[in-house]
Amino acid sequence: MTTQHAPEKLLTTSVLVIGTGGAGLRASIELAERGVQVLAVGKRRKHDAHTTLAAGGINAALSTMDPEDSWQQHAADTLRESYFLADPEIVETVTKNAARGIEDLDRWGMPFAREEDGRISQRFFGAHKYRRTAYAGDYTGLEIQRTLMRRAAELNVPIIDTVYITRLLVADGTIFGAYGFDVVTGQPVQIHADAVILAAGGHTRIWRYTSSRRDENTGDSFRLAALAGGKIRDAELVQFHPSGLMEPDDVAGTLVSEAARGEGGVLRNALGERFMEKYDPERMELSTRDRVALASYTEIAEGRGTAKGGVYLDVSHLPRETILAKLPRVYRNLIDLQMVDITEQPIEIAPTAHYSMGGVWVRPEDHGTGVEGLYAIGEASSGLHGANRLGGNSLIELMVYGRITGEVAAEYAQTRTEVHRDPAAVQAARDEMQSFLSNDGREVPRRLQREIRDIMTEHANVVRTEEGLRAGLAKIAAIEERTANVTAHPDIAGFDDLAHAYDLMGSLLAARATLECAIERRETRGCHNRADFPQQDPALRGNFLWTPADGVSFEPLPDAPESFRALAQEGMDDSVDGKLVE
Ligand code: FUM
Repeated sequence: MTTQHAPEKLLTTSVLVIGTGGAGLRASIELAERGVQVLAVGKRRKHDAHTTLAAGGINAALSTMDPEDSWQQHAADTLRESYFLADPEIVETVTKNAARGIEDLDRWGMPFAREEDGRISQRFFGAHKYRRTAYAGDYTGLEIQRTLMRRAAELNVPIIDTVYITRLLVADGTIFGAYGFDVVTGQPVQIHADAVILAAGGHTRIWRYTSSRRDENTGDSFRLAALAGGKIRDAELVQFHPSGLMEPDDVAGTLVSEAARGEGGVLRNALGERFMEKYDPERMELSTRDRVALASYTEIAEGRGTAKGGVYLDVSHLPRETILAKLPRVYRNLIDLQMVDITEQPIEIAPTAHYSMGGVWVRPEDHGTGVEGLYAIGEASSGLHGANRLGGNSLIELMVYGRITGEVAAEYAQTRTEVHRDPAAVQAARDEMQSFLSNDGREVPRRLQREIRDIMTEHANVVRTEEGLRAGLAKIAAIEERTANVTAHPDIAGFDDLAHAYDLMGSLLAARATLECAIERRETRGCHNRADFPQQDPALRGNFLWTPADGVSFEPLPDAPESFRALAQEGMDDSVDGKLVE
């Protein structure tokens, strides 16, 4: 039996925002405050957006705890930890405007943790020189999402969080909207808009162990932007967070916040050794994320891991009240998922794919993508994090560029004098959707997606080699061929399976971009560990750009301004000492 859907619906707005997580909401708020018509759409319910999983905090040099802190020092830490692959202008914009991002949240009622005298508390996160991570327990992202949803509701921002966007609509190189369908009813939707802001996340769900849940971060933004004429930057630069849960299998990779180490948690291998002593004896567990992840990976690979292939993170020596107050989510997750009481027992963890540091290429000044009228923000975009993201920087990035891009898109939409349309672009989007629904092939989207995740885990994990990456690419090519036989089977419960078919297409494109860029980055830098090229190569201080048609090209980066370059170079450790890549 074929599941029927209603006839196509046409919606019109000035600015369409794709994604109803923190970035999309922040941009929508800015547009609404400026009196510009906005429509926000997303494929998962807004109260459950991926932003709600962001745990430990949001950065700004507020100096509430350490008066010596400054935006320049925050910029320096960000640039240094990016292994100098961050775009200096984006770094400067985010760090200079970070305090304003916190003020916005504070004004809208965000329940930040506070000191007794009312100052916003700030905690240590790995590789920060000072305490500058503001937080709400380890539910910071959830509270930010709630705060932004409240503000958006006050402004009557229309949000439809059941719409899956399958294609951006482009005429003569200018965006004019998007095409998609309602995941509950299956009704196709054509949305006309003068500008589109893409805030639909990254691509970390293409690994087996990931802090993203099913249907999140499946590379949708990469595909939408790339097929509309945008470029993908540094797809190979993916942050593996050191602490992901290993069980149960269906939530493998769930994050254990870095706040656990920030509050004093220690890492041990199966022999009981506090192994960070070998890798970074000064910073220990608060070393950079790439180093801690690689250290755990190495302990496991060399046989000092647990029987299940993990290491231990232990907070049980901390006062019970500290754990309950500062790590409530970790405490609760471990009880709920494993019946482990972390006030008494260690947590078994392994590295987990956590954040897309690469993403859609954007201009530093406004996050325009180079496609007229198309902008990208949040994890969909790129440029701030380079080869290693400072924990807490993604939440502040979405507050800063959500605001700036909202402002720029408002101005763009208000000054348009021409309307662009292309019926052929709309028809191509319709035909693609119809082919998934009417195809009688036997390939199941979810199963192919699982195969992609296995391939990426085997061939593009924490440590990579050219041979492995090429083998991965050959397997991805084989899956690409099989997509001709993919059929979506919506049922009376809804059109989720059609969403899975598009998730698959996004994942495939993102996997190809990742593998092709990873092959070209013939060096070890930050998160990208090449066993066959264990040194950093100064000639590769730049970004790899990727498009489906032209593959990979290289773009060198400008130097950072003196105001924070010297600070970033101070005490810089770009050696590979302690990085036991093999
Ligand atoms: O570990 C964490 O709480 C993660 C924070 C982040 O990725 O910024």
